[in-house]
Amino acid sequence: MTRVAIVGAGYVGVCTGLTFAGQGHRITFADVDEARVDALRAGRAPFFEPGVEAALRRALRLRRIDATTDTATAVDAARWVFLCVGTPPTSTGSADLTSLRAAAKAVGQALAGRRDYPIVVVKSTVPPGTVDDVVRLTLEAASGSRAGHDFGVASNPEFLREGHALQDARRPDRVVWGTREPRTARRLAQLYARVRCPKIRTDPRTAELIKYAANAFLATRVSFANEMANLCERLGIDWYDVVEGIAPDPRIGPQFFRAGVGFGGSCFPKDLGALAALGRSARNPLRIVESTLEVNERQPAEAIRLLRTEVGALKGRRIALLGLAFKPDTDDVRETRALPIYRALRHEGADVVAYDPRAGESFRRLAPDAVIATSLEEALTGADGAIIQTEWDEFRRLRPDLLRRLMRTPVVVDGRRTLESRSMDRGAVRYRAIGLGRNGSAKKD
Ligand code: UDX
Repeated sequence: MTRVAIVGAGYVGVCTGLTFAGQGHRITFADVDEARVDALRAGRAPFFEPGVEAALRRALRLRRIDATTDTATAVDAARWVFLCVGTPPTSTGSADLTSLRAAAKAVGQALAGRRDYPIVVVKSTVPPGTVDDVVRLTLEAASGSRAGHDFGVASNPEFLREGHALQDARRPDRVVWGTREPRTARRLAQLYARVRCPKIRTDPRTAELIKYAANAFLATRVSFANEMANLCERLGIDWYDVVEGIAPDPRIGPQFFRAGVGFGGSCFPKDLGALAALGRSARNPLRIVESTLEVNERQPAEAIRLLRTEVGALKGRRIALLGLAFKPDTDDVRETRALPIYRALRHEGADVVAYDPRAGESFRRLAPDAVIATSLEEALTGADGAIIQTEWDEFRRLRPDLLRRLMRTPVVVDGRRTLESRSMDRGAVRYRAIGLGRNGSAKKD
């Protein structure tokens, strides 16, 4: 049983900690947020994420986890310290390392005098050079000890997806670590020995860039899909028919081509912004990354445009906004496309009634004046149109007869291709979807 300290109990920290706990290690979470620490100690997941609460309770029962607001307590006697704090965007889009510096300083102070080679691992997403130039130096200054001699430092980025976070942490498709210290590299190899997947061993800067490159490429695929889908919509072609024709090419593949109102979440928008800022400061502007963000900013307007073509002017119209989370199976609303859609609808004078199976409360914090229904039916009742923003399973049960019964005018703009377009076409529902040209849908009838 190895003692592991996890500094920062967000998605990455909690899922990493629970994964290590599942392997028999003893975890102490440290977080500045007292409510979060209390929740963890009481066996309550601090956020909605499938499987997290059950894993937390099990680990508590086995006395494998604890939580504290005091970093020194967590670090005391830990052989591993994982830094999992957030790196939000600054006003220029670059990664704000304030929390990371503070965490590294607190960890460094707690490491003073330790000679047993504890290893500090950075899991937070940070620009290349952060581990070498910021974390290592902060740890050395605060501890009075030497990296590579008294303690180790490494980068070990995390690729988990919300909604599947625990599963991704337990069964990663690859593990990447970057360190300049052979002793640290050997210990990392032991720590991950039981995880079966490719292990990529490199230096910290490369490991840091791998994380940004992965997110930038995935987000670029989504913006590419969205641009093509917008074109398809205008040409009367179904984008998914096009995907069917390109996906069998092994160089292309089928994933991350879902068109819609754009990507949100805690990673893509922030990480692409930070990467773009990095490109600018290195005097090597990243045009594809910048365009990916630009296309993404425009996508919510595509849903509004489709709605307007069916409903006409939106002033005074009652519009149901279905789905507020940035994606299904989470209550996370960070960078959710629901917010720009909500604002655009309000700007055009629409009366918006929003609904989400999980994220109503968190959305209210972003838009305090939002009217949030407690059920799907309530949101749809009397509506002149609906926009589906998140592809929750619950919405898949929407059938034309139900829509016709509840809505004043049964117009649905599907921002995520949640519903079967064929079933919609028949039922006298005016159904529009991003990437589904009107001719395309007619062709399938
Ligand atoms: C992402 C990465 O997948 C993960 O590896 C990284 O560690 C963190 O960022 P996450 O933000 O949880 O994970 O969600 P993901 O499932 O990747 O979706 C991101 C956004 O892209 C969502 O808003 C989703 O709706 C959107 N998306 C995704 C699309 O619009 N189309 C797609 O085909 C795929």
